[in-house]
Amino acid sequence: MATELVEPTEVVVPIDSEADLIQVRRVLRTEAVRAGLSLVDQTKLVTAGSELARNILIYAGDAGGELRVEQVRSGDRQGVRATFSDNGPGIEDVEAALTDGFSTNGSLGLGLPGSRRLVDDLSIRSAKGAGTTVVIVKWRR
Ligand SMILES: Nc1ncnc2c1ncn2[C@@H]1O[C@H](COP(=O)(O)OP(=O)(O)O)[C@@H](O)[C@H]1O
Ligand SMILES: [Mg+2]
Repeated sequence: MATELVEPTEVVVPIDSEADLIQVRRVLRTEAVRAGLSLVDQTKLVTAGSELARNILIYAGDAGGELRVEQVRSGDRQGVRATFSDNGPGIEDVEAALTDGFSTNGSLGLGLPGSRRLVDDLSIRSAKGAGTTVVIVKWRR
């Protein structure tokens, strides 16, 4: 079943500095509560979103990025969709980037695969030199 917007409004948060992470977490928490997610699922969404926002700070650097959050519905289900986009260098091999332990940064390489496990859906649109968009969805259960 197609995913539809519940309402035309969306919340947008710029991601340009460490301080923006606070607002990212706050907005995700607020929208998770609005969608009726359990406390555990709220925290999963916030944790996944924090990793994706941190990736934008690390990898997109000065190019910056943003988060857009929407309430969505599919049939009887309500949920939150969060879209993280940046104008950074892009990801050359998306499949590799989703593998546990893959990092071009010498770090843990668990951000993307870990985030994927915390939400119901995670998809990446990216190409080298063309920026990155990561979309996550968490449904109320
Ligand atoms: N927004 C992004 N822009 C460019 N590359 C990214 C972005 N997010 C992730 N990547 C690439 O995917 C790899 C894996 O990301 P992640 O799983 O978060 O692990 P880590 O950040 O620890 O390296 C990164 O090392 C980086 O090469
Ligand atoms: Mg990371």
